[in-house]
This record gives sequence, C-alpha cells and structure tokens, in this order.
Amino acid sequence: MRSQVNPVEKIIEAKKLANHKGDPLHGTCFLATTQYDKSPHVRAMQLYDLVDGALFLLINDTSPKWEQLTSSASYEALIYLPSVSMQARFCGAFFMAEKRIAEKYWTQVPLRFKKLDYFHSMFLDQSSKQFDEKKFYENMIFITETYKDNPNLALPDHVKGVYLVPTEIEIWMDTKKGDEMPIRLLYIVKDNEWQEQLLVP
Ligand SMILES: Cc1cc2nc3c(=O)[nH]c(=O)nc-3n(C[C@H](O)[C@H](O)[C@H](O)COP(=O)(O)O)c2cc1C
Repeated sequence: MRSQVNPVEKIIEAKKLANHKGDPLHGTCFLATTQYDKSPHVRAMQLYDLVDGALFLLINDTSPKWEQLTSSASYEALIYLPSVSMQARFCGAFFMAEKRIAEKYWTQVPLRFKKLDYFHSMFLDQSSKQFDEKKFYENMIFITETYKDNPNLALPDHVKGVYLVPTEIEIWMDTKKGDEMPIRLLYIVKDNEWQEQLLVP
C-alpha cells in the first residue's frame, strides 16, 4: 500500500518531540554490523543528523565497525526514543559523505572525543586490545601539547562521514493508552516511493 507518510519525516518529528522532552536518547542510534565470521556486533553511536532521508554518522575507519560495515555492506540501525515510546529499525545502503560534510559535523564533536580520534590516527586503532593506560595518557598529553587544545582541530583522514540510507524502516509505537496494543508499521521503498504495511505487534 502506498504511504502518504514519509517514515523518515515521521521519525524526525518524534525525535524533535523527544528532544523537547529531554530524552537522553534523542541523539543516539544503535548500529549493528556483522564480522567476517558472521558474528554480530552492536554499539551505541552519536546520531549527528537525520537528513536527506538518511542517518548521518561519523565513523573512525580504524575501528572494527568500519571493516564490518564496508566489507559486508549490510547493517541494521535502531533508534529508540523512550520518552515517546517509539522504536525505528533501519536497513539499506550506505554512502560515504564528502569530506566537507564530515568536517561540518565534526565541529559538533566534543574536544576530548576529537582528541581520541587523533589518538586512533596517530597511535592505536580504536578498540585495540593490549591496552597500556599509562602510555595512553602520555600519548593524550602529547596530543594536547601538540595541538594546544585547539577547538578547531582539523578532521583526521581516518574519520569518515557516512549516510545510512534506509530502503526498509520498521516503526514500533506504543500509545500507552489502556488496552491499546502497540502499532508496528513496515515501510519498504518500491519504485522510489515508501509502501506501508501493518505488522503483527
Ligand atoms: C551514547 C553513546 C554514543 C556513542 N557514540 C559514538 C560515536 O559517535 N562514535 C564512536 O566511535 N563511538 C561511540 N560510542 C562508543 C561505541 O558505542 C563503541 O564502544 C565504540 O565505537 C567501539 O565500537 P567498535 O569496537 O564496535 O568499533 C558511543 C557510546 C555511547 C554510549
């Protein structure tokens, strides 16, 4: 059934409302990827934007998630907004953003996380094991002294801007009214239009 509603617009509205209500998850999504051995991996990620029908993330290409995302070319992303009782699950394609777009969003990254990205670029990949905490803090001091806590640190080449472009979105919503059951809607892109169908809740 053709949908009158663009599900991404619907989620943007829910996200705005969640932000207004002080929902701690309004800027977060959960990204699931699979490794070469087919093991699943999921983690929370900052959701920088929901724009042009896509989720925009910044991903450090030294992290295992980068290899997992780019080699399997499949993912599932999930937004959960407890304040408005909504969950949205996304899968589809992904595209690398131009560097200038990644640079624009990078300005929003807190300085300490920017320094962490520098650490991944200069010293050790993100999620590396065999971690020496003392050495880590020495390296961080080196980064701080070298870059003088400049809030305008340049985007390292290892940080990639990524658009997750869904071709399928599943929304779960709960009105929390009396005996009303949650609603589940599945949206699939067909002939460049979103088609909507109900799912058993
Ligand atoms: C709310 C929240 C937001 C996070 N945002 C990011 C993020 O934007 N980028 C990132 O690399 N890690 C982020 N993390 C840490 C990741 O969940 C994860 O621990 C890290 O990226 C390593 O994941 P990997 O080993 O699967 O690559 C966030 C964690 C939380 C709890």
